[in-house]
Amino acid sequence: MQRDMAKLRAYYADAPSDISLDDIDLSRMPSHVSFIMDGNGRWAQARGLDRTRGHVAGVDSLRETVTTSVRLGIDVLSAYAFSTENWRRPQREVNLLMHLFATTLVKELPLFHQENVRLKFLGDLDALPKDTRDVFQRGLDETSSYDGMTFALAVNYGSRAEIARAARLIAQDVSAGKLSAEDVTVDAVASRLYTAGLPDPDLLVRTSGELRLSNYLLWQLAYTEIYVTDLYWPDFNRWEYLRAIRAFQGRGRRYGGV
Ligand code: FPP
Repeated sequence: MQRDMAKLRAYYADAPSDISLDDIDLSRMPSHVSFIMDGNGRWAQARGLDRTRGHVAGVDSLRETVTTSVRLGIDVLSAYAFSTENWRRPQREVNLLMHLFATTLVKELPLFHQENVRLKFLGDLDALPKDTRDVFQRGLDETSSYDGMTFALAVNYGSRAEIARAARLIAQDVSAGKLSAEDVTVDAVASRLYTAGLPDPDLLVRTSGELRLSNYLLWQLAYTEIYVTDLYWPDFNRWEYLRAIRAFQGRGRRYGGV
């Protein structure tokens, strides 16, 4: 994706001592960066606040992450906002999150318009409250023609359910005679995942130090480089994003070869 160097330099002025824009190679950027935004609850608890305040603070980090991705010229940004398992959280927290998704999206639509960002959702949206679903649809409709960065938000997403759904869609096509068993290739599966048409993530960033994938993009992360930071999601910022890219650029990617 195109990047505006003047804007990027200004955005990354005031560098801390250990990292600056010059530490990364802008000609070797990841195309797709994905985030597991973990630690909102712990961030809030550490401040004696209700867990839900952590999610509100998490929105600010996500907004900064969208802006940073645009400034850096990332093609695809994805983020795990709500898993198929998160329904087990207290009803009050689930309600707050659903409300936050809808209100944030409405509030941030001008940013997507301004920055030419196309919105996409990964997951089963049918189970979401109607007002949240309606706002998501509005976001999809209003940004569908944009060809800058793609921002894919995973909501009511679970990787195993996604893969089972792809298998179901394939089985339906096979029984309808549209597909034969020999046609069930890697591409046939990939094209039936929520991420169809998107490149696989090059870099996965997980905050708050946990070393697990939590049922996120299990198929798509096959060759993804993983960066884990101890920072809680509300503390994640443009500088930590640079540190993640610097680490990514220090890795040797072999995709199973030598
Ligand atoms: C993980 O922290 C975070 C979530 C389950 C929700 C992610 C939501 C946001 C970042 C804010 C809203 C996003 C949008 C798109 C408006 P956690 O609650 O699991 O934290 P913990 O592990 O410390 O309990």
